[in-house]
Parts: sequence; structure tokens; C-alpha cells
Amino acid sequence: MKIFVTGCCGYIGSHTCVELLTNGYNVVGLDNFSNSKKEVLDKIREISGKSIKFYEGDMLDSSILYKIFSENEIDCVIDFAAYKAVGESVSKPIEYYTNNVSSVLTLLTAMKKNNCKRLVFSSSATVYGDPDTIPITEDSKTGGTTNPYGTSKLFVEEILKDLYKSDNTWDICILRYFNPIGAHSSGLIGEEPNGIPANLMPYISKVACGKLECLSIFGNDYDTPDGTGVRDYIHVVDLAKGHIKAVEKLDREKNGLYIYNLGTGKGYSVLDMVNAFEKANGIKINYKIVGRREGDIAVCYSDPNKAKEELGFIAEKTLEDMVRDAWNYENHN
Ligand code: NAD
Ligand code: UFG
Repeated sequence: MKIFVTGCCGYIGSHTCVELLTNGYNVVGLDNFSNSKKEVLDKIREISGKSIKFYEGDMLDSSILYKIFSENEIDCVIDFAAYKAVGESVSKPIEYYTNNVSSVLTLLTAMKKNNCKRLVFSSSATVYGDPDTIPITEDSKTGGTTNPYGTSKLFVEEILKDLYKSDNTWDICILRYFNPIGAHSSGLIGEEPNGIPANLMPYISKVACGKLECLSIFGNDYDTPDGTGVRDYIHVVDLAKGHIKAVEKLDREKNGLYIYNLGTGKGYSVLDMVNAFEKANGIKINYKIVGRREGDIAVCYSDPNKAKEELGFIAEKTLEDMVRDAWNYENHN
């Protein structure tokens, strides 16, 4: 089966390419390197022993998409290409809506013209806003997003639902990721944030290696066991495997629109993460408690049962695996 992966050199895309290649899929990839490096292609080859057929270009450019579809018989598309920095999205809404929403319309148009109607889309737990109930199921209400990034994911979900309503010969799987962290155990691929990381795990890694002095913990007065924010961290390799399960599901079922949470179902606090990192890696993390970060919620973790029952997906890696692999990647780079 031939899978077209957009954003194939990014954090989640690169790990998914490795899983696809090692599971016998042929992979065609597209990236414009707006948030990744060319070398990732060599790393994917080094880990998997196989190559992807790569096109450099922008998903907003319909001509490259038509070229890809005309040169390859694509069975399924996995769409990762997007901008993902929550804070930046507030100051650059036009860029975020263009890259995250218009690009999907360009892709869907090219898919339709080429009669390829099978899509796995990267969505996010952010679409649940501030959840009413925990753990969050796929039926929990969506909306109430607080930034253009989150809203862009919500918009695309609605577009995909309308598309399926209009033509139920599409096969669409929307995956709502919780908090992906960690890296491939080889240390060859991982998360490469631009500048000072906004997310917890890459920030901890930078403090551990001395590039940053001290972690600011955003609030210890939440209604959680230790007062710090609780999230559902999932190892990126588990997350990548979830995409194989989604592709298999679409191949098995034919015609449907499915939505799944990809998480572990466990919530860990910021202090849990700091402690786990220190214990697994034997490194002390300097931290200080500061005020809450605007837009943050207290608790967010998934009910992972739908993905388990319908996809056969279970996240297998432990918190120790996540923090060890994150540090291993930092050390390699
Ligand atoms: P990433 O930035 O590491 O990867 C995205 C890749 O897409 C990059 O290689 C970038 O160069 C490429 N890209 C961006 N716009 C493009 C365009 N117009 N044309 C071609 N290539 C383009 O991000 P990631 O963490 O791998 O995230 C992948 C997807 O998962 C995104 O859609 C993101 O919104 C979603 N997601 C990520 C997280 C997370 O915490 N990492 C959580 C939930 C959802
Ligand atoms: N945190 C700190 N200090 C930091 C960074 C984060 O205390 O320097 C805390 C946050 O307050 C939060 C937790 O660590 O309690 C996790 O924060 P992240 O920024 O790592 O992750 P978020 O849950 O805020 O958001 C992430 C992505 C979103 C995505 C969401 C759900 O940034 O894009 O997970 O998948 F939508």
C-alpha cells in the first residue's frame, strides 16, 4: 500500500514514516522544511533501512500535489503538515489559518480530483477546549478553543465532517493527539523546537543540558493533587504506531468518518514529569513556581478505550521510556 505523508520530516511525521516503512508500506513524502531539516530523510533511512520517495514543496501549492498524485498511485494520505506553536498563532492568525486550513482544502481538492478519498488527519486534544468531564471521550463537547492554532484544528474537523456528509465514499480518520513527547530510541530523530521551547518536555531537556537555566512551572494552585497542571503524555513512537492502526482501520472498514483520542489515559502533573526525568536520567532540574500561563487548563487526559476497542491501539511505553528517550535525543543533538 502506498501512503502519502505530508509534513513527513517533522516530529510526528518522521516517527510515523519509520513505522510505516518498517511495516512494509511504501511512503511518498512532502515537506517544505518550514519546521524541519533535510537530514531527517537520511535518519529515517538509517533507522528503517528503507527510503521514502520525497518531494520538497508546499502543500498550499496545488501543482506539487497534482504532480505527486499523477506520479504515484496513492492509497491513503496522512496529513501532518501544519504550524503548531500555540503562542505564535495568536500573533499570526492569517499565517496559521492559511497553512493549517487552506492547505487542507488544497489537499482535499487534489485528492478528490485523483479519486483518492482515504485520509488520516492530525488533530489535537486542544479541540476539547476546557473539558467538562475527565477523562475526555471522543463524545465530549468540542469548541471553546482559545487560540488560532486550536481553532484551525476545529475548523478542519468540521470541514472533514461536512465533506463526509456530502459524499460518504470518503474514508476519514481524525486522530486527536494528547501530549506527544520522547523520541525514537536510536536518538536519531526527535523534537526540534525553534528557539526557546514552549512545551514542557523540550524545556526540561534544555534545562538538563544547561542551555536554559531554570524551568518555570506555570502555577501550583490548580485543583490537582500537587497543584500543577496535569496532562496525558504519550510516547511519540506509540503515537506513530497509532497511525498504522488508523490506516489499517480505513482499509478494513471502507467508507466512514472515525474520530479517536490517542493518549495513554493517564494524567501526570508538571512535578511528576520533573521527578520522572530526574529519576530516569540522574539529572537535577532547576525549577521555580511562577504564575499560571494564560489559556492553560488544569487537567487534560484521555479516555483511550475507543481507540483500544476499534483500532486495537494501546500505548505501551512508560513515562520512564518517554523521559529517557527525550534526554537521549537531546544528548545526540
Ligand atoms: P512539526 O512542526 O514537527 O511537523 C510539521 C511538518 O510539516 C514540518 O516538517 C514542517 O516543515 C511541515 N510543514 C508545515 N507546513 C507545511 C506546508 N504548508 N507544506 C509542506 N510542509 C509543511 O509538527 P509535529 O509535532 O510533527 O505535528 C504534526 C501534526 O500534529 C501537526 O498537524 C500538529 O498540529 C499536530 N499535533 C501536534 C501535537 C504536538 O504536540 N506535537 C499535538 C497535537 C497535534
Ligand atoms: N508547563 C510549565 N512550564 C513550561 C511549559 C509548560 O509549567 O515551561 C506546563 C503547562 O502549564 C502545562 C503542562 O506543562 O500544565 C504541559 O504544557 P505544554 O505546553 O507542554 O502542553 P499543553 O498541554 O499546554 O499543549 C500541548 C500542545 C498543544 C496541544 C495540546 C494537546 O502545545 O498544541 O498539548 O495535545 F494542543
